[in-house]
Amino acid sequence: MAGGSSNQPADPVGTVIGPVTIGPVAHGGHFVARYEGRVIFVRHGLPREQVMINITDADHDRFWLGDAVEVIEAAPDRVTAPCPVSGPGLCGGCDFQHVALDLQRELKRQVVAEQLDRLAGLSWSGVVEEVPHDDVVAGGGWRTRMQWHAAEPDDGPNRWGLRAHHSHTVIPVTDCHIAADALPSVSGASLRGGGRQATAVLAAAGETALLIDGTVRHHTDGAGGELARDTVTHQAAGRSYEVAIDGFWQVHPAAADVLVDAVLAGLDPQRGERALDLYCGVGLFAGALADHGVRVRGVEGDRRAVALARRNVPTARFEVGRMDRAMRKLPNRADLVVLDPPRKGAGRTVLREVFARRPRAIAYVACDPAALARDLRTAAEAGWALAQLRAFDLFPMTHHVECVAILVPQRDRV
Ligand SMILES: C[S@@+](CC[C@H](N)C(=O)[O-])C[C@H]1O[C@@H](n2cnc3c(N)ncnc32)[C@H](O)[C@@H]1O
Repeated sequence: MAGGSSNQPADPVGTVIGPVTIGPVAHGGHFVARYEGRVIFVRHGLPREQVMINITDADHDRFWLGDAVEVIEAAPDRVTAPCPVSGPGLCGGCDFQHVALDLQRELKRQVVAEQLDRLAGLSWSGVVEEVPHDDVVAGGGWRTRMQWHAAEPDDGPNRWGLRAHHSHTVIPVTDCHIAADALPSVSGASLRGGGRQATAVLAAAGETALLIDGTVRHHTDGAGGELARDTVTHQAAGRSYEVAIDGFWQVHPAAADVLVDAVLAGLDPQRGERALDLYCGVGLFAGALADHGVRVRGVEGDRRAVALARRNVPTARFEVGRMDRAMRKLPNRADLVVLDPPRKGAGRTVLREVFARRPRAIAYVACDPAALARDLRTAAEAGWALAQLRAFDLFPMTHHVECVAILVPQRDRV
């Protein structure tokens, strides 16, 4: 279809169309383009660029997906990607490597504002805050956890790699621009017993671990001394937290501190108050609230994380279970609630349980602005107002953005 023919093939996947002028940024690392009356969500482009688009998915009635594979007229903020395996058809980890860092944050700001407006009817005029850290240079070096996958055997020494976008295809590579320099290298990792998946972790004080197919292959403290345990120790807000090597912990080295600060500043916890830390993981927010003299109950679905939370924050009480059911075991009043759900958000059932406890404030930590916006609409319908929303660039070079929303009962709004 190159050259602009109007005959659209029955299965356009793999066809290159254009030239097309790219429009505004959309959720999920895409940009909106229109071609012969059809909407195409395009990756690897920038607004106002003229590009040729390779169609990658045509399964939807109302839109197609595609990659900008040739840039005819580039935007001024397009830069050369620092990583050789970023781009169409290559590693799916980063989708904004071709974008200057300031513009990456501006694009994320536009997405947060658009999602809040369209899905929740809320107007937001904040910015996406840069999160500096000594180890993060030129938007790289921030991933303190990496998941590597086995590539095809004939990829030789590059036996490991990273997955392509929304695919099980493994792109052979063992050097990643956004990975922390101090992570243990997977390249050359022994393949005894197969080797399908490797997790490399950098924790506090230089501790590093490498797990291959669930077996610890390397685990040392910052001085190179061997460690014989299946957890690593992270630090945040002046506390230590033990986390399973392959368990959940924020990936950017400044993230845990930044999010705790935002949650505490938004909630202003008072000694003697009662709080719920929902989706608590190993107890990050529970620990910070407990240090302010707050009595905390935490809930989390991952049994290992709950066992660690109990050790990390012995003064708090934790329940293990699926949130919608486990919440029923909690007291029917709380002063404060922290919600840090997975990408799909908390949803109506959980929110109803939260609102029923009549907290004076809720901190909602969100990694997907669309799910956040849907939950904020549910909150507004139940009489909750958005008092503050901050957004943080905790995932440079990718479209991802982390938000912290503070909700208060509508009647408390001045
Ligand atoms: C974004 S993580 C937050 C963890 C923790 N707050 C932290 O900052 O380290 C979301 C957590 O929710 C848990 N989770 C996901 N779905 C759940 C569910 N339906 N019920 C309970 N916990 C769930 C996951 O196991 C994960 O630990």
